[in-house]
Amino acid sequence: MKSEQWSSKLGFILASAGSAIGLGAIWKFPNVVATSGGGAFFLVFALFTLGIGLPLLLAEFLIGRSTGKEAVSAYRHLAPGSRWHWIGYLGMATCSLLLSFYSVVGGWIVLYFLRGVSGTLLEANRDYGAFFGQTTADPWAAVLSQAAFMLLTIVVVAQGVKQGIERASRIMMPGLFLLFLVLIVRSLSLPGMEAGLVYFLKPDFSQLSSEAVLYALGQSFFCLSVGGSCMVTYSSYLSKQEPLGKPAVSVVGLNLMTSLMAGIAIFPALFALGMKPVEGPGLLFVTLPAVFEQLPYGSVFITVFLALFLFATLTSAFSLLEIVVAAFAHGDAARRRKMCWLIGSIIFALGVPSALSFGIGKDIVWMGKTVFDLADFAVSNVLLPLGVLLISVFVGYRFPMSILREEWSKMSPWWRKGLGVYLFLLRFVLPIIVLIVFLNGMNWLPF
Ligand code: PFF
Repeated sequence: MKSEQWSSKLGFILASAGSAIGLGAIWKFPNVVATSGGGAFFLVFALFTLGIGLPLLLAEFLIGRSTGKEAVSAYRHLAPGSRWHWIGYLGMATCSLLLSFYSVVGGWIVLYFLRGVSGTLLEANRDYGAFFGQTTADPWAAVLSQAAFMLLTIVVVAQGVKQGIERASRIMMPGLFLLFLVLIVRSLSLPGMEAGLVYFLKPDFSQLSSEAVLYALGQSFFCLSVGGSCMVTYSSYLSKQEPLGKPAVSVVGLNLMTSLMAGIAIFPALFALGMKPVEGPGLLFVTLPAVFEQLPYGSVFITVFLALFLFATLTSAFSLLEIVVAAFAHGDAARRRKMCWLIGSIIFALGVPSALSFGIGKDIVWMGKTVFDLADFAVSNVLLPLGVLLISVFVGYRFPMSILREEWSKMSPWWRKGLGVYLFLLRFVLPIIVLIVFLNGMNWLPF
């Protein structure tokens, strides 16, 4: 059966950028920048994103588009009779586990957004740290908001690739950039904002630890959504004629731009009001409400911020659900809808222990980590690096050369010259780098 397609290259770029831009770029990134040498960290991050993330993204695009098949079938088609299609299963498992706790944070955002809209979020002299603690510890609030986030994801993905994911991304992605602009103008028009700008952008290489560099490496996969094969599935819906270079560069560029915008929207406002950046989830849920509480129309601006976060997390969640659903739907629309509800519900159930791990489940701890932390650790430090390693080895050594050449011949002359460099990167450079990231993530490096 013929599967669905994006209506255009732009639709594909917006959906893929939607997958990439999420908690990585707008939440984790500003947190790390704050403690890792500002602009110096950004430079390293940009370098890795271009040198490592981009080739990997292109590798996933090559696998998906050349076969026109969802992840598991794509690997099977390219390497019949082998076990390489297990990369597809690994991707499905990784994305399911990721969505199970991603939806917990998504749920907090939904809840805070609703509070923002109803005007109950900001209150003079509120202790936002304690307020956030109470919210996440409340089992009903945590589970119901997680359910609401999953519901939104399921409803969109069930509509189909073009009617659901693409249509939503066409509204949410431009919306996200527009909302960012509003916030940046607000932030940069505050007296005393310069200190925040300097803090965020001025490179201070003395603060850039080896730990931060390795973290930047790992982040460059997470932020581009590579390693889980969901970009394989997304690119399988792209028409055969389109060259792949431009969409890949666009996704990388948009992602970097968003990281930059996030910092410019956040730090100047923080410093203008004399606050210090904090580490961890506090930034969105604790520091920003405290900042906006002190500004005129603050509740409007914090709600804008939350809407933006909601758009970013939802468009990432679509891709996480899509890879699993597509593997079971076999291109049949009715089956697809059923699968969306079934798989979405299973992933929701899988995420409930994570949702509860800030309250009644906080004492269930293994190796010093709660269920939420364990799931995050397994995905970010084990499963995604493993996926990235296998994908770079697969495309470097096992991908049929004739198909690779054919795909490459569609690209611009600039790209065409670089096939040798690309293969060198995939075969030798990336596997070594990913191995280092993995060993570091497991704390197995001697430094
Ligand atoms: N890129 C997403 C973010 O930064 O939030 C997360 C993500 C989505 C990672 C899909 C991996 C993935 F396969």
